[in-house]
Amino acid sequence: GWAASRQLGREPLVYDDEQKGLKKQIIIYFSHVVAENTPKGLAAQKFAELVEQKTNGRVKVEVFPNGSLYSDGEELDALLRGDVQMIAPSFSKVTELVPEWQVLDLPFLFRDEDDVRRVFTGKVGAELLRMLEAKGIKGLAFWSNGFKQMMSTTRPLIAPDDFRGLRFRIMPSEVIEKQFRLLGGEPVAVSFDRVYQELEQHKFDGQENTISNIYSKGFYKFQPYITISNHGYLGYAVMMNQSFWDSLPKDIQQKITEAMAEATRWNLEQSKEQNERELKQLERREDVFLYRLSEEEKRKWEQKFAPLYDEFTRQFGSGLLNEIRGS
Ligand code: LMR
Repeated sequence: GWAASRQLGREPLVYDDEQKGLKKQIIIYFSHVVAENTPKGLAAQKFAELVEQKTNGRVKVEVFPNGSLYSDGEELDALLRGDVQMIAPSFSKVTELVPEWQVLDLPFLFRDEDDVRRVFTGKVGAELLRMLEAKGIKGLAFWSNGFKQMMSTTRPLIAPDDFRGLRFRIMPSEVIEKQFRLLGGEPVAVSFDRVYQELEQHKFDGQENTISNIYSKGFYKFQPYITISNHGYLGYAVMMNQSFWDSLPKDIQQKITEAMAEATRWNLEQSKEQNERELKQLERREDVFLYRLSEEEKRKWEQKFAPLYDEFTRQFGSGLLNEIRGS
């Protein structure tokens, strides 16, 4: 439970059994907010297994899913304080600390998963990780949860006007907030672990998320109108507390890097496969109304979103944006 986990978190994280002739075991707490059976939850487990294997048990990664250790609003601070060693927040949740990361929240920035992969494995990926380093964070990888879809309680969201007057749950992100305002909606930031509860209390009419989050948390039970828009990308920055990373022996760092590369490759496949499979599951349900946005309808959304690009460029210049679009 939460209280027990909190207490665990206060115990020494690296303990030394050398007197007994044993090597030090290093314990890494990895906290995240989504369900275990999601692309992030499963990749975290995979990473933990790989690290344990590759280090012959010298390093143990303990994964805390569902925000059981820290919720959205808390996890980044907890990482910076060193109360937890690893987290993997969505890009949107990094934007408060590193405003340039807002670029990743721009709707229709990426064409498809291949486009995303190209960007993150290239120069832009390295640049984004360097921005984290400046804040005392060791960026280890980018994980994927695919593209976000729109959903609502009351009506299908197809034309921009359909959003008018509705309240939308958002992650804390300036770009996403403006995105819904441009559509005439009213955005409200809600921490992921509170979304279900607030749905039960009818606190908002719509939201955006990936199929695997919608499916694993049962959001579709409250908001059955789902528009497959693929308008925004939900990716994660997998990160470690920098001083903790620096304190690790070089050979351990090497093993962690290898395990992360492997877990990341696995995550990219898993994310694609899982979102596709669960979309089919939703499609089969009679209480869910799926609508696939046509290219023409997408263009209408894009026109609405154009000011977001202008504003981003005014604030941060066009360097990063051009690199992403040109790569
Ligand atoms: C959300 O808040 O909707 C997502 O960022 C949750 C997640 O980590 O996938």
